[in-house]
Amino acid sequence: MEKTVVLIKPDGMKKKIVGKIIDRFEREGLEFIGLKLINLTQEILDTWYVHHKDKPFFQDLSHFMKETPVVAMVLKSENAVNRVRSVIGPTDSQKAPPDSIRGQHGEDVQRNVVHASDAPERAEFEIKLLFKSSEIYG
Ligand code: CMP
Repeated sequence: MEKTVVLIKPDGMKKKIVGKIIDRFEREGLEFIGLKLINLTQEILDTWYVHHKDKPFFQDLSHFMKETPVVAMVLKSENAVNRVRSVIGPTDSQKAPPDSIRGQHGEDVQRNVVHASDAPERAEFEIKLLFKSSEIYG
């Protein structure tokens, strides 16, 4: 069984589609083993986006990610990373299939509603950064 982390970003929070997104993952057969609201601090974002720190969009992205608290969840299933990535669609919402979460609700490459881990090792890194071990149930 594989784990993956999903964040509902501030644009998704403001659109009040948390329930829809959770429902979609449940219907896809993914199991929730962690779920909470969290304020992403600059300290967390500096670690989370360390690979983007020198990119021109980093500052704007950090600002966007602090607009509201975000929902952070840990999902578990076989092949969870790829299953979730196919449900949410590619980073650029404009290129995402219409039946994907980003295709349905996203606007562009930054305001793309959700984040998902891109590899199982990355998921472990993200879980450690955001969750205590007592907050993971599985
Ligand atoms: P995500 O895949 O969750 O993690 C990296 C984020 O960086 C990505 O979502 C986008 O929100 C953001 N991002 C990636 N490329 C760009 C870009 N060219 N301009 C603005 N934001 C970007």
